[in-house]
Amino acid sequence: MQFMAAAAFGLEGVVKQELTALGFEAKAEQGGARFEADWTGALRANIHLACADRVLLVLGEAEVTSFEALFEFVLGLPFESFLPRDAAFPVSGNCVRSQLMSVSDCQRITKKAIAQRLKRSYRLDWFPETGSLYPVNITIHRDRARVTLDTSGEALNKRGYRTWVGEAPLRETLAAALVRLSPWRGDQMLYDPCCGSGTLLVEAAFLAQNRAPGLSRSFAMDTWAHADQAAMQEVRQQARAAWRRDTPLNIAGSDIDERALDLCRRHLRQAGLADRITVRQMDLEQVRLQEGPVCFVTNPPYGERLGDRKKAAGVAAALGRLLKRHPGASLSAITADPGFEAQAKKRAASRRRLYNGRLECEYLTFMNEG
Ligand SMILES: C[S@@+](CC[C@H](N)C(=O)[O-])C[C@H]1O[C@@H](n2cnc3c(N)ncnc32)[C@H](O)[C@@H]1O
Repeated sequence: MQFMAAAAFGLEGVVKQELTALGFEAKAEQGGARFEADWTGALRANIHLACADRVLLVLGEAEVTSFEALFEFVLGLPFESFLPRDAAFPVSGNCVRSQLMSVSDCQRITKKAIAQRLKRSYRLDWFPETGSLYPVNITIHRDRARVTLDTSGEALNKRGYRTWVGEAPLRETLAAALVRLSPWRGDQMLYDPCCGSGTLLVEAAFLAQNRAPGLSRSFAMDTWAHADQAAMQEVRQQARAAWRRDTPLNIAGSDIDERALDLCRRHLRQAGLADRITVRQMDLEQVRLQEGPVCFVTNPPYGERLGDRKKAAGVAAALGRLLKRHPGASLSAITADPGFEAQAKKRAASRRRLYNGRLECEYLTFMNEG
C-alpha cells in the first residue's frame, strides 16, 4: 500500500531521511514523503517518525475540476476493502489553487460518495458510524485530488509528555527537526539557553536514547479490522527494546522565566527525564559552560508584536555574545526576524527556510571556530 508521511513545509526532506533510516524506500514531495508499506510498516512509521504530522494511506488520486467528477472519483475508490460496516468516517479537507475551492462542499460530496459506495457493498441505507474511527481526508491541490485514510488519528506531535502550553511553544515535530538539522551529534553537549517549556530538550533526549516518540500513545489504526494485533504488538516490543534508556545525556537548558521552567520540569517529569536533564533559571547573558564545544539550539522570542521587537533584538544580540564566549561552539536558532544576523553581529554558516506554524522563519546556524 502507498502511504504519505505528511510534514510541515520545509520538513519533507527530513521526514524522507527518517523513513529511509527506518528501511523504507521514500520519496519527498510537497507536503511530505511517500513510501510503500504494509499495515505493520505503517504502525512502525507512526511510532518512530519524529518530524512527520501524520501517516496517511493514499486511496486514490485524480484530476478533478467539477463536483460531478469529484463524486465519480470517490465513488470509484474501494472503501469497502478498508471500512467495516460500522466505521465512523468523518471527512476533513482542504483545497489550494483549484477550481473546486469550497472545502465544505468537497467534504460533503466525498462523504456522500463514500456512503453510496458502502451502501452497495453492505446493503445498508443508513450508517450508524458507531465503530472504529477511519478519518478520511480529501485534498485538492492545483486540481489534483487525493483521498487518504488517516492511520494516525491524533496528530503525531502529540507524544503524551506535553500537556501544558507555555509561551509560544514549539511544535514537537518541528523541535525534533531542529535538533536533527543542527550540528549536534550526541557526543557533545546540547544546550537551550531559552528553553521555555523544554520541547527541544525532550526531543533531543528522545533522539539520543533512540526512543520512538510515539511509543506511549495509540493511533487510529490500532483498532482497524485489518491490523494484525500480534504483529503490531511485536512492532511496539521492538521499539521498546531499541530504546536506550541508560544512554548518558549531555543535554541541559535555562530560561529567564521561572514559570516557564515550572512547566519545563513538569514536561521533563512526564517524559521520564526529570533526573536526566537539568534546567536552571538564568538570563542567557549569564550562561557560561565549561563542557567543551557546546551545541546551542534554541527558539528565542521573535518579537512579532511591535512592543516586543526591542526585547527580541536584545536576545539576538545576547545570543551572538553567548556564542562568542564559547570557543568551538555552534548556535542554531529559529527566527522570524530578518535582522537576527545583524543583531547577533555574526553571519550564519548555514540557513534553511522553515515554518513555525504559519510564520515563515529561517533556521540559522552560526559557528565559533575559535
Ligand atoms: C519562544 S519561547 C521558547 C519556547 C520553547 N522552545 C518551548 O517549546 O516551550 C522563548 C523563551 O525565551 C525566554 N527568554 C527571553 N529572554 C530571555 C533571556 N534574556 N534569557 C533567557 N531566556 C529568555 C522566554 O522566557 C521564553 O521562555
